[in-house]
Amino acid sequence: MDNTQIASETLDKYEKYVNPAVARLFRFMGLSTVEWQAEGSIIRDIDGHEYVDCLGGYGVFSLGHRHPKVVEAVHRQLDLMPLSSKVLLDKPMADLAELLAQITPGDLTYSFIGNSGAEAVEGALKLARLYTGRKKMVAAVNSFHGKTFGALSATGRDLFREPFQPLLSGFTHVPFGDSQAVEAAVDEETAAVILEPIQGEGGIIVPPEDYLGAARAVCDRYGALLICDEVQTGLGRTGKMFAVDHYGIVPDIITTAKALGGGVMPIGAFTARPAVWQKYIEAPFLHTSTFGGNPLACAAAIAAIGVIRDENLASRAASTGEYLIGELKKLAVYYPEVISEVRGRGLMIGMDLTKEGAGGFLMAEMINQGILVAYTLNNPKVIRIEPPLAIEMVLVDRVIAAFSEAVKKAAEIIEDL
Ligand SMILES: Cc1ncc(COP(=O)(O)O)c(C=O)c1O
Repeated sequence: MDNTQIASETLDKYEKYVNPAVARLFRFMGLSTVEWQAEGSIIRDIDGHEYVDCLGGYGVFSLGHRHPKVVEAVHRQLDLMPLSSKVLLDKPMADLAELLAQITPGDLTYSFIGNSGAEAVEGALKLARLYTGRKKMVAAVNSFHGKTFGALSATGRDLFREPFQPLLSGFTHVPFGDSQAVEAAVDEETAAVILEPIQGEGGIIVPPEDYLGAARAVCDRYGALLICDEVQTGLGRTGKMFAVDHYGIVPDIITTAKALGGGVMPIGAFTARPAVWQKYIEAPFLHTSTFGGNPLACAAAIAAIGVIRDENLASRAASTGEYLIGELKKLAVYYPEVISEVRGRGLMIGMDLTKEGAGGFLMAEMINQGILVAYTLNNPKVIRIEPPLAIEMVLVDRVIAAFSEAVKKAAEIIEDL
């Protein structure tokens, strides 16, 4: 079978066995090739065409693809013992928990390791209920915390929520970035406020500088917990190890996933302060997972944290991000009819467009030029740019040149988009 046949057969299988609508979307975007191999910032399709990965699996590939240190650690663990007996002591899980305590801010100490971002959020919400004995939760409009029932109850987008009502009761959603709205929603019955420090899927929304500090103060006043969901922002993406580090606050629970697996393994975790963990110490089997904290994923995460520290990935994200945001802002000045705003922090960047149709157009144009980008899940008007944190400057310049070309084309037909 030749490569074209493999691609068309794959698309057929999407159509017949995955979801015909997804197959249609691939066809509509002109995406009729199969991804095959990846390394660093580059993904190659089955024909060997190269793409610069500026989507990064929605933030998964902070270390790029197949970082040699992560691959080596996973190989080593694979040859030793990939999954835990769950009876004897599991060294990689304990080592990772120690590392998470070291890199998370303040006195965040105890971790539960799971398999995904949504699972990390589930665990955090359960712990908040357990610790406080309260049921009310406050989350933000347009937030994204995952799509399992608990996480979806926190997620602030009706399109994803409505078909599954009733979700968990007790959730109030307040406008993101508005600390007075948090103040008005929290009371003595609130278990937790859950916030992304920078909204990712909501369209890369950076809140006012004092927002998280104000939310922290409100939680302290009412005895509610502050959960910061750093599944997307964590581990260097925004230019600091955690986005909360920009704001100098310590949440009661922090969630991590995505980049934690070093771009090689799926993994997620929630990490809490000792007092909050007390209920799990009294009853450690209240929250468990068969595959959670498995040695293979933990080996990847341990290596990933080592690379993030050794290669100063957070500060590289800060400086490369400053340059890239600056260049894209210049483009916005040239083409205000296409780009309404460029915003972000570090290498978590959003290009807000004037029209929804421009999102799909720009995405297809960029892919044609060998750059993978996509719009955010909650907001199709925002193109998200999240390349590996160590992306080479020559590739950054290639991305900027491709955007110039694509935005110029969009400007010519903006009326029709
Ligand atoms: C902030 C945030 N939390 C949670 C999730 C859910 O993670 P997962 O898709 O691994 O369940 C995401 C995914 O995009 C996210 O961005």
